[in-house]
Amino acid sequence: MKNKNKIKKVAVIGCGFIGYSWGTVFARNGIDTYMYNRKSPTLDNVKDRIREALEFLASEGMIPQNGVQEALSRVHTTDSLQEAVKDADYIQECLWEDLPLKQDIFKKLTDLTPPHVPIGSSCSGLKISDIAADVTNHPERCIVAHPTNPPHLIPFMEISGDKASREIKDQVFDFMESIGQKPIQCKEVYGYVLNRIQLSLIQEALYLVKEDVCSVEAVERALTDGLGLRWAFTGPYGVEELNSANLKDGLEKYKDYMIEFFTKEQHKVTDYDEAFIEKCVSGFAPVMGSKTHEEYTLWRDQMVARTRMLKENK
Ligand SMILES: NC(=O)c1ccc[n+]([C@@H]2O[C@H](COP(=O)([O-])OP(=O)(O)OC[C@H]3O[C@@H](n4cnc5c(N)ncnc54)[C@H](O)[C@@H]3O)[C@@H](O)[C@H]2O)c1
Repeated sequence: MKNKNKIKKVAVIGCGFIGYSWGTVFARNGIDTYMYNRKSPTLDNVKDRIREALEFLASEGMIPQNGVQEALSRVHTTDSLQEAVKDADYIQECLWEDLPLKQDIFKKLTDLTPPHVPIGSSCSGLKISDIAADVTNHPERCIVAHPTNPPHLIPFMEISGDKASREIKDQVFDFMESIGQKPIQCKEVYGYVLNRIQLSLIQEALYLVKEDVCSVEAVERALTDGLGLRWAFTGPYGVEELNSANLKDGLEKYKDYMIEFFTKEQHKVTDYDEAFIEKCVSGFAPVMGSKTHEEYTLWRDQMVARTRMLKENK
């Protein structure tokens, strides 16, 4: 990959939740997209899932109506790894979050492709140094390219790899930006940036319900009627800027309050059992109301698409 305009073919390895969505991103951007999975209903259905995602984008005005068929014609499916990666300019790996599985596929992918082809893993927490530990054919092109689910709607993503070459990380960064994603780069830490923040929040959400401080519904509303409304526009530093005269004042003013909470009041949930899972599931039921899982997904996707259009002033 010499520059972003040279990406003509991408191979997506794994056609599940993240794979089909990445396939949608690449195909809608005019790239020949080869979807690989082992033989399974997931592989058989992936083109239909991509069609539905493209139709959804068209219905929300995010791509032109006549762009659906055009994009779909670029999607190819295969259960042959060789066919998927042949002449690929970039590879996006999307298999299960399992270290031995990812190690094995990265070894195969690097052995099958020339040294200039970058390979990004969608992994959610693992470090690429561990995934590429056994790679001998130019491991410096192996990186984390972690999306936010679903990447065809939510553009934020993370690029990381302490042993990866600067050139490769910058090339993938430019490529992703050129197709509408919003990448950042970060050092190799477990969970990168987004999941570290998200997991801290989930930790507290579990704690509040476990200790019967409030209901599952109340936790959801604290986010959806509260914090979430501003978080699409201002992150935690922006919130501190606006909660005081400015960020400096905010960090000084709330320091004791925050440190007190972090050191004395914040407790960790270190385990939970089936009864607790059941408590969460029954507590969540009123939030979804009569919506099925599919209806809830569609509603979430519509709201996210419209917020994104608002942010992009469309
Ligand atoms: N789901 C999310 O919210 C999310 C968000 C960001 C990143 N991720 C990461 O993306 C990756 C994929 O997650 P997902 O949610 O799409 O998983 P998934 O279970 O939906 O899909 C994984 C796919 O890999 C295929 N697969 C597994 N082993 C295989 C093998 N040996 N050969 C060929 N195909 C094989 C499965 O058949 C399946 O289609 C994971 O690393 C995950 O952590 C997930």
